[in-house]
Amino acid sequence: MDPEYNSADIRRRFVAHFEAAGHTAVPSAPLLVDDPNLLFVNAGMVPFKPYFLGQETPPFSRAVSVQKCVRTPDIEDVGKTTRHGTFFEMCGNFSFGDYFKAGAIELAWDLVTKPLADGGFGLEESRLYPSVYVDDPEAVDLWRKATGLPDDRIIRLGKTENYWSMGVPGPGGPCSEILYDRGPAYGADGDFGAEDRYLEIWNLVFMQDELSAVRSKEDFDIAGSLPKQNIDTGLGLERVAFLLQEKANMYEIDTMFPVIERAQELTGRRYGADPVDDVRFRVVADHVRSSMMLIGDGVTPGNESRGYVLRRLLRRAVRSMRLLGFEDRALPELLPVSRDKMAPGYPDLASDWDRIAQVAYAEEDAFRKTLQTGTTIFDVAADEAKSAGRTTLTGDKAFALHDTYGFPIDLTLEMAAEKGLAVDEEGFRALMAEQRSRAKADARAKKGQHADTSVYRGILDEHGPTEWLAYEALETESKPLALLSGGVPAPALRAGEIGELVLDRTPFYAESGGQVADAGTIEFDGGVLEVLDVQRPVRGLVVHQVRVVDGELAAGSGAPLHAKVDPQWRIGARQAHSGTHVVHAALREVLGPTALQSGSYNRPGYLRLDFGWTKALSPQQYADLEQVANNALRADLPVAWDYMTLDQAKEWGAIALFGETYDDTKVRVVEIGGPWSRELCGGTHVDHSSQIGTIVLTGESSVGSGNRRVEALTGLEGFAYLARERDVVAQLTGLLKTQPGDLVDRVGDLVDRLRVAEKEVERIRLAQLLAGAGELAAAAEDLGGTLFVGKVVDGAGGGDVRTLALDVRGRLPADRPGAVLVIGVQDGKPSLVAAVNDAGRAAGVSANALVRAAATLLGGKGGGKDDVAQGGGTDASQVDEALAAARRELTAS
Ligand code: ALA
Repeated sequence: MDPEYNSADIRRRFVAHFEAAGHTAVPSAPLLVDDPNLLFVNAGMVPFKPYFLGQETPPFSRAVSVQKCVRTPDIEDVGKTTRHGTFFEMCGNFSFGDYFKAGAIELAWDLVTKPLADGGFGLEESRLYPSVYVDDPEAVDLWRKATGLPDDRIIRLGKTENYWSMGVPGPGGPCSEILYDRGPAYGADGDFGAEDRYLEIWNLVFMQDELSAVRSKEDFDIAGSLPKQNIDTGLGLERVAFLLQEKANMYEIDTMFPVIERAQELTGRRYGADPVDDVRFRVVADHVRSSMMLIGDGVTPGNESRGYVLRRLLRRAVRSMRLLGFEDRALPELLPVSRDKMAPGYPDLASDWDRIAQVAYAEEDAFRKTLQTGTTIFDVAADEAKSAGRTTLTGDKAFALHDTYGFPIDLTLEMAAEKGLAVDEEGFRALMAEQRSRAKADARAKKGQHADTSVYRGILDEHGPTEWLAYEALETESKPLALLSGGVPAPALRAGEIGELVLDRTPFYAESGGQVADAGTIEFDGGVLEVLDVQRPVRGLVVHQVRVVDGELAAGSGAPLHAKVDPQWRIGARQAHSGTHVVHAALREVLGPTALQSGSYNRPGYLRLDFGWTKALSPQQYADLEQVANNALRADLPVAWDYMTLDQAKEWGAIALFGETYDDTKVRVVEIGGPWSRELCGGTHVDHSSQIGTIVLTGESSVGSGNRRVEALTGLEGFAYLARERDVVAQLTGLLKTQPGDLVDRVGDLVDRLRVAEKEVERIRLAQLLAGAGELAAAAEDLGGTLFVGKVVDGAGGGDVRTLALDVRGRLPADRPGAVLVIGVQDGKPSLVAAVNDAGRAAGVSANALVRAAATLLGGKGGGKDDVAQGGGTDASQVDEALAAARRELTAS
């Protein structure tokens, strides 16, 4: 390959072209965004959304970026088409109210057609087809002017292709695409829907509308125009790469193919030899890269949302390697190859490698265990199906394997085929569909009223952002701006009712960064509200969920209100949040810097911290953690915070937590003890670490593979917890009449004595049971030459029944055929054991037959060998009949 055309070079050309045209180069944002509607950043415009909507003023009017993106709805298509990747890089140029259609078209056309020697992509004009939205004649004119192409080379397409939105409420607009004709080998002439032939390389969105609802690509509501006319474009880096590198698809480009090459070496199979294997190779190349990028940005495998997507990607990669015949640990072989290709563009991959590798490899190990269990379950199911004479594994079984053991269906198919079995795929898919619709309904229910944020945006537009005074004040005099009930404006709230209230200013902390919302009250003339929750459904707007305790709050009154945070609550919240930072810093001190927080939650008195770590903490580590944390409290470290740019914060070594989006130009850094703990954080904190009071660890546990959780109590809650434990100790010392220092020895002593006593009781019970054995043997009945002892023992369970039966058998004369049947009844349930001596067996007497005959009458079953057999039943009222049945069996044999 000519190095001129590698991905890094394409990226450079793109950025340089737009920088030369006055655009500011903006680095890629992380893949995770703080947007309830988006799982991952899925387009270059996502970080700029507030600029398009006019919620924030951009610091530049033109920007260019190469944004990492993840899209996972069509995960099943990966490897099957030439252009679907779950991870991809989108090159984009953006205009915020600056140039519009003409500028975007000219800049794009120039770059794609400009010769390579002049910094362009040098694509042949004769292969390029611009497409426009059918209702956009202006765009047709502009294309004609910019390109000189005849009218029939400009394709008009409908909403599905040429109206772009985020798929959720937000900005949108008609668009133009540049299609590249790959020639008749890839599809029919003029079939512009055939995307393999007419490959879309660049989408230019004329961002002008605000959408309030999006039901499908064809069906959406336009609420109005955006404040300005904008441009948002997206050029698929991988697509241009495979065109320029003359490859058939995106999986074969410079950043991805080395993974396929390594996979070939490992599996001994060849890419290009078998279409089914080829799809697997491509899945490996794509998924290895996507999961590495996701872990790099802080996602850890789990069973919900982002974590679940990551888990699927990792497991699909591992499974594809197995289907290619490689059964060893695959990721340690493949991930580093992908890292070496991607790290030049994303240096964090190299610097954060230990953590990334640890998370990925631990998930592979967990999956390998799952596969082991699942394989056993599968084998049993397959054997059952076969011995029942069936040729198909049921849909239920395939689904259970998938659902409970994480067994992907194609693995089940493959393994079933190896055993000569088919799988009821239709039944399986029906169950999957059922589960999916349940999950969807769940997700809809969870999103709740905040999913549609247009109401809040309306309030924000009308009144501007809330003056937020949580760092400065506990009380404010405020004016009411809006009152909602059930998500819509309400004229009033009466006593007992719950609604949402927006104020011009507030001292209430809105839930974020793991810290719960403040509690408190809002008083007004003639009444009082209790604050139940405080959220920021759109950036800049604080919304209080309130219940009217007393009086009636009228929306239009405009009368002043007195907002008052409960000061005790706030002290507790500050202690818990600072405590969380202390525990995090202490963890890193004890475990090393790869122990990074993956989630946290804190409320007054309590905190929990999840962190990426694959093993349980040892008792020593746990004790050290508590010690280091409390030493930091005793050292009375100063707590300080300041605003700075994101770059400055990083330079300072501040830890940016995953899943948060930060404003690059202004982030808040909280430090405890200077560099000891520096984190980006918007929470409320104590002034000195000693104000946290105490940190008492209460537990350490696993939360999904690769993640652990520590929990702790802070402040008075911590002391109260210790006081409760002291009380337990006091009660025990009182009870045992001993001193606290002797308590453990004393309890250990008691446990030992109890064990000795239990053994003694057991010995006595057995002696009693067997005491009658000699008598029983002596009283054996002679049934046609066979000595028979039949005995019912109340209160005897299975083990005792067996002991007695064997003991009695041993006492029968060895030279005469003998059989014993003991039936014990415990808790109303019969169990039985038959034992036959050698002479009896020689005479054709079978313990198995005796037990079967007797167990049937007891409503149960049993079996065993000729010498000893056992069984159980359900109906203890029939014990005498059961003995009679055994006697009949003996006389018959
Ligand atoms: N935002 C546009 C897209 O994702 C450019 O296609």
